[in-house]
Amino acid sequence: MRKITIFDTTLRDGEQSPGCSMHITEKLEIAMAMERMRVDVIEAGFAVASQGDFEAVSKIAAQIKESTVCSLARAVVKDIDMAYEALKHAQSPRIHTFLATSPVHMEYKLKMTPEKVLQTIGDMVRYAKTKMSDIEFSAEDACRSERDFLVKAVSTAIEAGATVINIPDTVGYVTPIEMFDLITYLRNHVHGMENVALSVHCHNDLGLAVANSLAAARAGADQIECTINGLGERAGNAAMEEVVMGIQTRKDFYQCMTGIDTTRISTTSKLVYTTLGLPVPINKAIVGTNAFAHEAGIHQHGMLANRETYEIMTPQSIGLLQNQMVFGKHSGRHAIEKRLNEMGYELNKAELDDLMERFKQLADRKRSINDSDLEALVTKQTLYVENGYRLDRFTVNCGNYITSNAVVRLKDGEKLVEAVAIGDGPIDAAYKAIDMLIKAPPHILDDYTIFSVTEGNDALGEVIVRIKSGDKTVTGRGLSTDIIESSILAYINGLNRLL
Ligand code: KIV
Ligand code: ZN
Repeated sequence: MRKITIFDTTLRDGEQSPGCSMHITEKLEIAMAMERMRVDVIEAGFAVASQGDFEAVSKIAAQIKESTVCSLARAVVKDIDMAYEALKHAQSPRIHTFLATSPVHMEYKLKMTPEKVLQTIGDMVRYAKTKMSDIEFSAEDACRSERDFLVKAVSTAIEAGATVINIPDTVGYVTPIEMFDLITYLRNHVHGMENVALSVHCHNDLGLAVANSLAAARAGADQIECTINGLGERAGNAAMEEVVMGIQTRKDFYQCMTGIDTTRISTTSKLVYTTLGLPVPINKAIVGTNAFAHEAGIHQHGMLANRETYEIMTPQSIGLLQNQMVFGKHSGRHAIEKRLNEMGYELNKAELDDLMERFKQLADRKRSINDSDLEALVTKQTLYVENGYRLDRFTVNCGNYITSNAVVRLKDGEKLVEAVAIGDGPIDAAYKAIDMLIKAPPHILDDYTIFSVTEGNDALGEVIVRIKSGDKTVTGRGLSTDIIESSILAYINGLNRLL
C-alpha cells in the first residue's frame, strides 16, 4: 500500500497561533515525542524569524535522528542561509522555501510580476540546492492561484531541483472536491511531477482542513502537512491525529497508509495541549475527552452487545488504556514507573525522582491516586521557566462578610520576599500581592480557567491563566489539590514567563 509522508508543522505553523509560543526546551520535548511516534518530517521552526527560532531548529536538528528535520525559509538568500546554518548538523535535513503564486498575493503582498515570481522560484530553489539535496518548495496560496500559472511555478521549482512540491491552501478556501481535482490535474499536467513528492498543507478556516487533506491523499498526494491538535494560524491546520486515524480507519477507501505509531497519539496530543496551557476540547475528534465515551442508554446497550455498533476505532489504537489502576502513599517507584510506561510515558532517572517527590506530596493530600492523577503529575508540571520566582507560602482570609486579604511569600533565588494585599475575593487579593513582588512589565489578566483534573472532593485542580502585555500573550499553569494554591502557582508561572 502507498505510504503517505506525515510532515508535522506544530513547531512552526502551530507556534504561529496567538498565545502558542514555546520555550526551546518545550519544543525539543515535543520534537522527541514526534520522533517516537514516527513522524516522517518535523518542521522545527523558521530559522530566520528570531534568535530563539534559530536555536530551536539547531537543537532539534542536532538531537533528532529518525525523522527529517526541516526549517522554513522565504525565497530569499538570507533565509536560506539561516535555514542551512540551523540544519547543518541534522542527520536528514530539509529546507522548505516558499513564494506566493496567487494574483492577490503577487500584486499586493509581494509587489512582483508573475515573471519575477517564476524567476525568483528558479533562482532560490537552485540556491537552496547548493546547500543540501532535500528541498521543498511551497507555492503559497496555491489554491487561489491560476492553474496555468501554478503549473509553471511548480515546473520551475522541479527543474531547479525541488524534491517536494507543496500545495498550500493558505487561507482554507477550497472544498474537498476542488482539492481532489487540483491534485489530479497537477499529477497529470506537470512535467517531472512523477519524480518528486507532491504535498498538501491545508488550513481550517471553513473547517475543511482534514477533509481537504484526505481528498488530496485519495487523489494521489504523497505528503500531508499537519499539526498536532490542529493548532495553527487562525482556525488552525489539518489535525494530525484526525488525518492519521482517518487514513488508518478508512484505508479501504484511501488506499494508503502512514508510518505513524498511532498508540502515541493520545500522549503526544496531551503533551502539546499542556505545554501550551490549553484545555482539551471535550468533543475534539480522536483526542477529546468524550471521543470514546458512550452515555446514551441505547449506545451503551449496543456497545455491550458489540463494540462495533458505535465505535469505528478502539481507544487502545490511540494509546488509551482501558483498565484503571489506583495508587496510594505506600505505592512503590517500580509499580508507578511500570504504569507510566504502559501509559506511554518514558521518564529518565531525574524525571522519575522529581515525579516521585511530587507523587508523595500528592499522596499525603489525596487518599487514592489514579491514572489521571499520574498523568497530571507527568504532563501538568508548571510550564517551563529556567529561573524565576517560586511560591514559598501563602495565607488567605476570605468570607462573605470580610474583605479578602492575602499574604504571599515568594522565593527570588535565595531571597524571600513577602507582600500583603486586599482584594475582591481571595484570588484577587493573592494576585495583587504577587504583583507587588514580581516586577513584570505592565500586563492584564486576560483569562482565568479552572478545571478539575480528576473526580472527587480531593481532585487535583488545574488553573490556566492567560496574561497579556502589549502584543505578547503568555500562559501560566498551576496544579494542586487546593484551588487557591493552583491559582497562585499559575499566576507566578505566567509572570515568570513574561519576565
Ligand atoms: O499556509 C501556508 O501557506 C504556509 C506556507 C508557508 C507553507 O504555511
Ligand atoms: Zn500554513
